[in-house]
Amino acid sequence: MRDMTRHSRCVEECTRTRIPSTPRLASPDFGNGTPFEELSVTTLSFPQAPVADWLKVGRERSSRRSYDGTPVDATAIAAIEQFAHTFHPSDVARTVLLRQASPRIFTGIVGSYGKVSGAPSALVFIGTVGAPGVDECVGYTGEAAVLEATRLGMDSCWLGGTLNAARVTDAVKLKSGERVFGISPLGYATSRTSFAERTIFGHTSPGPKPRKFAEETAPGFDSWPPWARAGVEAARLAPSALNRQPWRFSYAQGRITVAHEGSDAYKKVSKRLDCGIAMLHFELGARHAGVSGHWELLSTGSDVASFVLD
Ligand SMILES: Cc1cc2nc3c(=O)[nH]c(=O)nc-3n(C[C@H](O)[C@H](O)[C@H](O)COP(=O)(O)O)c2cc1C
Repeated sequence: MRDMTRHSRCVEECTRTRIPSTPRLASPDFGNGTPFEELSVTTLSFPQAPVADWLKVGRERSSRRSYDGTPVDATAIAAIEQFAHTFHPSDVARTVLLRQASPRIFTGIVGSYGKVSGAPSALVFIGTVGAPGVDECVGYTGEAAVLEATRLGMDSCWLGGTLNAARVTDAVKLKSGERVFGISPLGYATSRTSFAERTIFGHTSPGPKPRKFAEETAPGFDSWPPWARAGVEAARLAPSALNRQPWRFSYAQGRITVAHEGSDAYKKVSKRLDCGIAMLHFELGARHAGVSGHWELLSTGSDVASFVLD
């Protein structure tokens, strides 16, 4: 993934794109003096996204855990830092770049297996604890940085479980009420997949791991309009914790609703966070098919959000 280092057009273009409306949940004050009535966390969209480029790199990328230790190109690291700093479509999620990441922030699954090695830098995905929609906002916001880093030639891997949260927290400045939801190494992966990547993570060939068929995550998909089908196809390739792909799409009255399947009991990574990642991919697919729209966040049971055409 080392071939692209030109400066990101979308860094300058990306803007905050909230549409104010009334939050559906109670509005607690988390002690930082900012009640949630003022935060209006209800919609997510990224009209300025470099749609074609992100769809392309989203198709090609895979999670990489073995890096060659080379520092990221200076122009590229400045661009991703600027992107992370600028792109925050909700008030409850943000991404921070650690230019120099200590290897001690990555932990293994069994002993040293699964441990990330040789990554010079990292992204840190941060959210406001307990805020309505925080998991999906962290997923959506963080995945934008992951795709942009990929576009700039870097490799990456979302980590929600195999990280040392205390050490990451020491390395970033959290605001009151925030916590770290995940991280990703950034750098250039070794040209060959490591033994652990092949044996534990099943990466024997380049590109993403196998995914569910569209019909499994979107029953009735064949009869949906082209933009909705394109969104589902793009969302299929989204990464998820344990590759579980918990998102389920339904279509009614011109809008797509995403919900997570089953219960959300695996506490290390909420399925809603995976859904937030898939929501960004869905939006790219839908935009590429010629429509514009935005996500309205839902807070009822397993429902996560609805994509509504503008
Ligand atoms: C939210 C999230 C959390 C993840 N947490 C971990 C983790 O703790 N450790 C790990 O090795 N991989 C983790 N992954 C990477 C997934 O295992 C990987 O995305 C999935 O198996 C699909 O593989 P691919 O990204 O190569 O297509 C995580 C991915 C996501 C999206």
